[in-house]
Amino acid sequence: INTKIFESSEEASLLVANEIAELIRSRQADGKNVVLGLATGSTPTKVYDYLVQFHKKDGLSFKNVITFNLDEYYPMEPDSIHSYVRFMNEHLFDHIDIKRKNIHIPDGTLDKEDVRDFCEAYEEKINKAGGIDIQVLGIGRTGHIGFNEPGSSLKSKTRLVRLDRVTRLDAASDFFGLENVPSKAITMGVGTIMAAKKIILMAWGEGKSKIIQQSVEGEIKESVPATFLQHHENCDFILDTAAASSLT
Ligand code: F6R
Repeated sequence: INTKIFESSEEASLLVANEIAELIRSRQADGKNVVLGLATGSTPTKVYDYLVQFHKKDGLSFKNVITFNLDEYYPMEPDSIHSYVRFMNEHLFDHIDIKRKNIHIPDGTLDKEDVRDFCEAYEEKINKAGGIDIQVLGIGRTGHIGFNEPGSSLKSKTRLVRLDRVTRLDAASDFFGLENVPSKAITMGVGTIMAAKKIILMAWGEGKSKIIQQSVEGEIKESVPATFLQHHENCDFILDTAAASSLT
């Protein structure tokens, strides 16, 4: 893991947005696609703001971009205010020229018996697209990446999971009460994430400093899924000074 520490999350987000934009441009020059793995939540929003800005002001096109989101609550309707489909539309997709057919987000509306086939097909689509070039990640207080909670294995693939109580508590205010937070989600697996050619995990604020320290410096173990990223050969942790404050 390469840790890179910035004064502010704005500065850090600009660097990440620039790295993504450069890859999109260089692939465009070669007539090739870029496959991005995307996260939701509060952490990546400034990166998406910058990408929208690059599109509107500098003409950056996303016509050669294919995206796969990490996760979605289950069950979840796409037009719900809590849906990650809606989140991605509002923060990114509605403001850029990406082709709708190139957008992939786990489907929270599936019947239970269809989830397994959907998850297998999701993995196949990632592979058919050529694999993920850059995977953007946030991190939960449990050390989850995507919704791979403690206990997730290194080899896990896209699947239906049960959310940790800590994760549900962290989401409770958004859902106006813990009882409204779904208990399940569909998420890419740790193995899916680890297969990305490059991983960029971002974390801001003091609240993330303890889990960042454990993830970067702690023993690799299933009880802190983000520690598996220590095995990845091309993984950057992009941190603000507060999130980095517990690193030794
Ligand atoms: C979101 C996701 C989660 C979040 C994590 C941090 O798609 O997969 O792992 O990245 O829960 O959330 P925020 O950024 O809201 O602190």
